[in-house]
Amino acid sequence: MTASSDRYSALQIALHWTVALLIASAWFTGEGMGRVLRQKIQGNDPAWPIHVWLGLAVLAIVAIRIAVRAFSGAPGPVPGTGETEAKLRHWGHLALYVLMAAVPIGGAAAWFLGLGSLAEIHSLGGDALFYLAGAHALVALGHHYLRKDGTLMRMLRPS
Ligand code: HEM
Repeated sequence: MTASSDRYSALQIALHWTVALLIASAWFTGEGMGRVLRQKIQGNDPAWPIHVWLGLAVLAIVAIRIAVRAFSGAPGPVPGTGETEAKLRHWGHLALYVLMAAVPIGGAAAWFLGLGSLAEIHSLGGDALFYLAGAHALVALGHHYLRKDGTLMRMLRPS
């Protein structure tokens, strides 16, 4: 994957914020999913809760996001970033991508195949994704308000 520019494109920015909003919405609507899944496993046919629709939307848009990332690359760290910090950034973003893909895949498999134990792992993964994204957002705000190095603006104003 190569850096194609020092900013993100309009498409990458739109995908980033759409996925962020969907993930937050999916996390807040996850409550009570265990009970609905148990009903489904017992043979009742419950209506698909909003959480399922949001998770499927996350999966679809994350697939597009990963394809766009693979095709057009992404900017490297802002100038002045130290080596350790650049590594943390790399592994942090990678962990976000892995969780963004794995959590909805696990949730969809648990829902459609009726796997209660997988649903529990999915739920833990969802929490991990939510808190990692929260830490990521705090780092972005730290760049903006403390370092004032333009990192956040790259995810707001397209190249
Ligand atoms: C569920 C929520 C979120 C997820 C899953 C997420 C995920 C990601 C990922 C994977 C990247 C790397 C993009 C790439 O280089 O390919 C990224 C970049 C970025 N995100 Fe987020 N993000 C979330 C929320 C936020 C929030 C709330 C903020 C700001 C408050 C934010 C600010 C940024 C910024 C500024 C970058 C660019 C970082 C840089 O270029 O070094 N993100 N995000």
